[in-house]
This record gives sequence, structure tokens and C-alpha cells, in this order.
Amino acid sequence: MSPSARRAIEESMTNAAVPLAKLKTEIEGFDLVSYGGLPEGRTTLLSGTAGSAKTVFAVQFLAAGIQMAEEPGVFVTFEESAADIRTNMRGFGWDIAKWEAAGKWAFVDASPRPGDPPAVTGDYDLGALLTRIEYAVNKLGAKRVSLDSLGGIFAQFAESGVVRHEIFRIAAALKQMGITAVMTAERAEEGGPLARYGVEEFVTDNVIILRNTLEQEKRRRTLEILKFRGTAHQKGEFPFTVTSEQGIVVLPLSAIELRQKSSNLRITSGNTELDQMCGGGFFRDSVILVSGATGTGKTLSTTEFMAGGYRSGERCLLFAFEESHDQLFRNASGWGWTSPGWKTRASCGWSVRIPRAPAWKTTSSS
Ligand SMILES: Nc1ncnc2c1ncn2[C@@H]1O[C@H](COP(=O)(O)OP(=O)(O)O)[C@@H](O)[C@H]1O
Ligand SMILES: [Mg+2]
Repeated sequence: MSPSARRAIEESMTNAAVPLAKLKTEIEGFDLVSYGGLPEGRTTLLSGTAGSAKTVFAVQFLAAGIQMAEEPGVFVTFEESAADIRTNMRGFGWDIAKWEAAGKWAFVDASPRPGDPPAVTGDYDLGALLTRIEYAVNKLGAKRVSLDSLGGIFAQFAESGVVRHEIFRIAAALKQMGITAVMTAERAEEGGPLARYGVEEFVTDNVIILRNTLEQEKRRRTLEILKFRGTAHQKGEFPFTVTSEQGIVVLPLSAIELRQKSSNLRITSGNTELDQMCGGGFFRDSVILVSGATGTGKTLSTTEFMAGGYRSGERCLLFAFEESHDQLFRNASGWGWTSPGWKTRASCGWSVRIPRAPAWKTTSSS
């Protein structure tokens, strides 16, 4: 590409005179933190270390488009084979083969095949790849394209100038097709450059970072929109989790509006004297923190609270993180509070677990 042609594309890419439309990803929580989704008709770079859920995001972007918006998608894979992706993503309930048969999903498989000779610098025929992508996009009438992951294709270009040029070519071609795309790139380490070649972030309009950091022996996943050229988004890191039911779920903490209702109703603490001290019991909808050293009666007061609820004919649920079901029952009956009704599921729920970090702080083991 000549320098002037390139400048022209660059200028058109940065033209922010017209407010940019966003394409709703339908990824839970993401459309809130991004103020409406990914910038439409542009490519967004998704950067993260190995296991940071880049592939899950790239697949989910297409899956959500198909399921929620009837938008077909093309998945360009450079690392995992199409067969592997079909199998791995079944765990999320995404039946890619079915979507392929229905003409809603197409793979452009550029992953290395066993027995392929190692590519030599400059060997890679990007023109042919772009033709394959364009063919698939036109055939499906696709609006969404995911490319996963850039490292796989660019490992063969030793020179960063070539990489920069080639990424630019891909992004420009997708833009001309009116495609909204997600392009993933692997980071070597959390604090390091955004992508292996350190240039990717400068040639795409938009950059999102997925982090999977280890804090006090616990994994914490966060998503941060680093830049969306020409359009607003929430700043900072947002926790997210990966679940089999929903895939990526972002917790839009600061984007959540506090609109819960409050009430003046009182409910019993289970203890008459304490109810009197509180002016008639606890407020309904409130959270009471009971704090004290070992043996001061924390479990006692929570069990008493349950007993009070049960006596008032309410359904109760107790989460216990230290004592087992039997220990709790033994102690409660020692205090004279159990009744046969406690054990029936309809009136009283018990969940006894080993303590662990909240879901958005843990990595589900694969
Ligand atoms: N069915 C599933 N349910 C919940 N989490 C899953 C499931 N499948 C994969 N994951 C999570 O996603 C992670 C893999 O993410 P992936 O997108 O392959 O990472 P990357 O592409 O960034 O290397 C796994 O380590 C696992 O924590
Ligand atoms: Mg991956």
C-alpha cells in the first residue's frame, strides 16, 4: 500500500465528526460498560494472556449475534482448528455445527495443519486469506467477524514493520466490508506489552484488555476498555466471570444504578430483647453485620434469626461456611430451637460450603 493511500485510510478511520454507532454484543454486562457494544463497522483488538478467555469472547461475540440478533458471523481461526473450537465451545451450549448447517456461522480455518512445513518470512499469502474471508462474509451476509488469534499468523513475520502493515491491511479490508470485528492477540505477561509484537494496539481503533491476575492465591478476571476511538465508554477494570450457562458475564459495578426500593417494615431478629433495642426488629431488605471474636455468639445470633423467621412462618435460607449441616443442627437443638419443620426443604434451606472467593474472583477450572 502506498503511503498516501494509507494516510487516506488512516484519516477515514479517525474521522470522529459523525458519532459512531455501536453494535450490541449481547454479552451480559459488556454492553453496559461499553455504552452500547462494540464500535460498529470497526475492528476491536482483544488482548490478554493465555487463558484470559479471548477465544471465549471471540466465539461468544458471534454466538450472541446469532442467538439474540439473528446476525450471522464468520470465525477466522489461526491457532485452534475449527474442529477443536466446535468441541471446546459445546461446554457453553453453543452448537456451532448446527449454526454452520443453517448458514449462520462459517469458519475460515487458517490454523496450521499437522505436517505443514514451517512458513518462511513473507511467505504467508494474506491476499488469499482476505479473499476467503470476503467470500464467507458475502455468502452468509455476515455482520460480525472474529479473528483468533493474531499470534498464530504473525509468528512468521520477524519484522514488526511487516506485522503492522499486515494488520492494517486486514482491518482496512474488514472496514470496507462494513464488518464489526474482534481480533485477539496474546500478551506474554499481565504487565507486558499489549500484544506479542507490541504494534497491534497502534493499528486498531479500539483496544480491550482481558486480565486474569493472581491476587492472594486467587484468580481475578477483569475486562478493561483501553480505548474506543471517537466514542465514549466506561473507564477502569470491570470484574467478569466465565460460566457454562452464559459464557462471559461482566459485572458492570459502577454502571449499575442504585434503584432498589426501601421499606419501613420490621422483621424479628428472633430475639425479643434485641427487637426492642432495635425499635421493633430489623428493617426488611437490610443487611446486618454481626461482628465479634470467637465464642461471642455470631453463629448463635444467626441461628436465632433463622428460628425467628421460621416461627413467623417465613421461608429461610442459611449459608454456612464453617460448620456442617449436622453441627449446626446439633447446636441449634442444644439451644432448643429446632423443630421437625426445619428440615423440610419447603420452609428452610441450608447451604453448607467450604468458603471460597465469590464467583467473579475465581477461575472455573477447565
Ligand atoms: N464450559 C466452560 N465453563 C466455564 N468456563 C470455561 C468453560 N470452557 C472454558 N472455560 C474457561 O475459559 C478459559 C479458557 O479461555 P480461552 O478463551 O481459551 O483463553 P485464551 O483464548 O485467552 O487463551 C478456561 O481456562 C476456563 O477457565
Ligand atoms: Mg485462545
